[in-house]
Amino acid sequence: MSGSTESNQVVIFDTTLRDGEQSPGASMNLEEKLKISELLEEMGVDVIEAGFPIASNGDFESVTEVAKLVKDAVVCGLARSARGDIERAAEALKPAAQARIHTFISTSPLHMKFKLQMEPDDVYQAVIDSVSYARNFTDNVEWSPEDGSRTEHDFLCRCVEAAINAGATTINIPDTVGYALPDEFGALIAMLVERVPNSDKAIYSTHCHNDLGLAVANSLAGVVNGARQIECTINGLGERAGNAALEEVIMSLRTRQDQLPYSTSIDTECITRASKLVSTITGFTVQPNKAIVGANAFAHESGIHQDGMLKHAQTYEIMTPESVGLTQSKLVMGKHSGRHAFRIKLNELGYELGENAIQEAFRRFKDLADKKKEVYDEDLVALVDDEVLRANDTIKFESLMVVCGSKGPQTADLELDVDGQICSVKAEGDGPVDATFNAIKVLVPHEARLQLYQVNAVTEGTDAQAEVTVRLEEGGKSVNGQGADTDTLVASARAYVNALNKLMVKREKTAPGALSA
Ligand code: KIV
Ligand code: ZN
Repeated sequence: MSGSTESNQVVIFDTTLRDGEQSPGASMNLEEKLKISELLEEMGVDVIEAGFPIASNGDFESVTEVAKLVKDAVVCGLARSARGDIERAAEALKPAAQARIHTFISTSPLHMKFKLQMEPDDVYQAVIDSVSYARNFTDNVEWSPEDGSRTEHDFLCRCVEAAINAGATTINIPDTVGYALPDEFGALIAMLVERVPNSDKAIYSTHCHNDLGLAVANSLAGVVNGARQIECTINGLGERAGNAALEEVIMSLRTRQDQLPYSTSIDTECITRASKLVSTITGFTVQPNKAIVGANAFAHESGIHQDGMLKHAQTYEIMTPESVGLTQSKLVMGKHSGRHAFRIKLNELGYELGENAIQEAFRRFKDLADKKKEVYDEDLVALVDDEVLRANDTIKFESLMVVCGSKGPQTADLELDVDGQICSVKAEGDGPVDATFNAIKVLVPHEARLQLYQVNAVTEGTDAQAEVTVRLEEGGKSVNGQGADTDTLVASARAYVNALNKLMVKREKTAPGALSA
């Protein structure tokens, strides 16, 4: 890759699986990461940062498996400047058709003094050593000065020049703590392009955090001033307030071509699906008024707006819902629909399921069609996601009968399949959800703490399916479980059981110190 800022093509680097996963509570398992990677690739993302291989065996495995799966995108692994980190990243990336090692070290006075406890000259040497070492494994090396936006300019220029001389082909400038303002961040990129003598040999990149709500604005300011890669995440997931949201960056570029004449390879119609998938997997619901992917992003409530829209859509609509893949809720099929139509519908919705999964999904669809007057695309997506996400569970939900209401006691009669054996129990609780979860605890004893219990309606109406997310925490590790059903308590039990399954397979995390990326 050459570092020309003359090209108007902006590389989209997605870090949902790495920085995004660093959001407390957003951890994802391998299957979930693979599902997200598949969709990122379909969407046209150029680089997928799949993890931080030294951080844990789980991260290592995820990077390797993503590297095996992904064919068109570059797969990237993060590494600090230590040789062990870089070797681990290189090892994890071996199966990748195109691999990138992303190595970083802090360069701001604050970070060097207090976090690294290193002198600037030693940091400078570490930049050269780490990039040169990474180049032994791949010629696609990215280097980041952590806390770059709070780094002294002279020192930043020296480090960037040294990184490029050592072979870095992408120079990523992080606003690690989300402190920069758009003009300031843009000027920082312009300063680097101008002052670093070998700037033309690398691509500048932005990596902006959203602590002040400016991550997208800062990223765009970076591009206007010469950056040609944006690091971002689906739904703006990421450490603390998150990273620049991919969907906002992309739709800004697309909608304001008059001011931002840059192109990307993203198929914008995949945006809604990607947002939904990431929010289902992480349990991080999207706020209704969130730009581009919020439930209200294309809803026009007030009479004046509705009137304007009816006369001419562009009166209040700067982009169409279709452009982000949002289609009108479609009534799909009813209880008389056959297997063939069901299979075709799933394909249309982007699912390629194996035979067993289709049979099970079809059975549940029939049950749903019996209970629910109208079955929509959203219902099928919830049902199939539910099926796919629990495919490897060893504890399975079988049945639930709950007694609830104001006359107590509330009880739950629960049946689970635990490792192929059907077990049942009746438990009481302080309300039906508590009774259900108590019953699960009797059948599968554990110490996990319930951190989050969240219910969303998949569609409108009182017969809508409930989509439940449960987050469990045990020994500092948290996992999210999901469940969907027209019965909120069944969905709750499914979600809790799904979380328990994940807890059981959760890899030992052996986080090294000072992983503050
Ligand atoms: O925010 C940050 O500084 C990072 C770097 C590792 C790029 O995530
Ligand atoms: Zn970051």
